Amino acid sequence: MSSHTESEHPTAHPPAAKPLKKLQIAILGCGFMGTALLSGILQATEKSSHDLKFSLSVRSEASLDRLQQDSRVAGRTQYVGTSNVEAARLSDVVLLGFRPHQLSEVLSEPGLAEALKDKLIISLLAGVPTRQISASLADSDRVARVIPSIGAQINESMSIIAAASLNAVDKELVIWLFQQVGRTQIVSEELIGSFTAVSAACHALTVVAADAIVDGSVAEGISRPEALELAAQCLRSSASMLQGHMSIEGLKESMSIANGITINAILELDRGRVRPGISDAVRHAVRYARGMSGGNDS
Ligand SMILES: NC(=O)c1ccc[n+]([C@@H]2O[C@H](COP(=O)([O-])OP(=O)(O)OC[C@H]3O[C@@H](n4cnc5c(N)ncnc54)[C@H](OP(=O)(O)O)[C@@H]3O)[C@@H](O)[C@H]2O)c1
Repeated sequence: MSSHTESEHPTAHPPAAKPLKKLQIAILGCGFMGTALLSGILQATEKSSHDLKFSLSVRSEASLDRLQQDSRVAGRTQYVGTSNVEAARLSDVVLLGFRPHQLSEVLSEPGLAEALKDKLIISLLAGVPTRQISASLADSDRVARVIPSIGAQINESMSIIAAASLNAVDKELVIWLFQQVGRTQIVSEELIGSFTAVSAACHALTVVAADAIVDGSVAEGISRPEALELAAQCLRSSASMLQGHMSIEGLKESMSIANGITINAILELDRGRVRPGISDAVRHAVRYARGMSGGNDS
């Protein structure tokens, strides 16, 4: 299957200045990811003149308490409660942040389809095609699907967006919203599962690599906190250079001087078959994701 993105390659959109927004945003199911997005957007827009107001719904008293006591949220919400209908009614953009298996239960709540009518819906639900949501909402074509990554909570998400049915204004709005919490890639919906799997494998790899680097360092006499600080910053700086001006080949060449430590470390990694191990893990993750969605991404 060929990569089918809107341009020849997936488009990475760095955050950019945009006209002022006045938006009322609902998050139905403001759990881990909903709260990560909420806090990331609040933080990114804190000093701006954008006028964003949030309506948040959850199910349990414990989650309600958590949101009501969150000082970051105070003053920026117009509703925090357990009614999805009320949260949706007050908003013009609605994020679906509950668990995927709850879709039909939530959308069949009395009054919710009416409250969602003609609104821009952004589904975070992994594995749920937009057509399934549209079909429950009188075939609305204002439905986008976005898979943010865990980095959203520190404004470092890589959010994968499928928004083929949206008009240009809605699409620009979705991209803008997720640019507040990091970077975005626009992909065709048939590939969103593969992109999500690569993202998940990449996070897994980073954690495993950091853990192994720290263990190796400790075994050679470096303290665990020092080793972790060193590993995290080095992983970060390599990633930043790859995101910036350097190619993989350029970075490898510039690090690898004759008789140097780095080239010897690279060769030892190759002896341990680390490179094919990583590629295989990524391919396994993509195939596993396809298997979860019955053989294709969407
Ligand atoms: N976690 C990730 O890294 C990630 C990444 C990409 C996409 N996603 C997607 O994001 C969604 C949420 O994932 P999560 O990790 O944030 O899960 P989560 O922490 O369990 O959040 C789900 C939220 O939905 C609320 N909820 C439950 N039943 C509800 C109902 N009937 N109406 C409204 N809200 C209801 C829960 O409220 P209570 O807390 O009160 O039960 C909870 O706050 C999922 O669809 C997932 O596929 C997650």
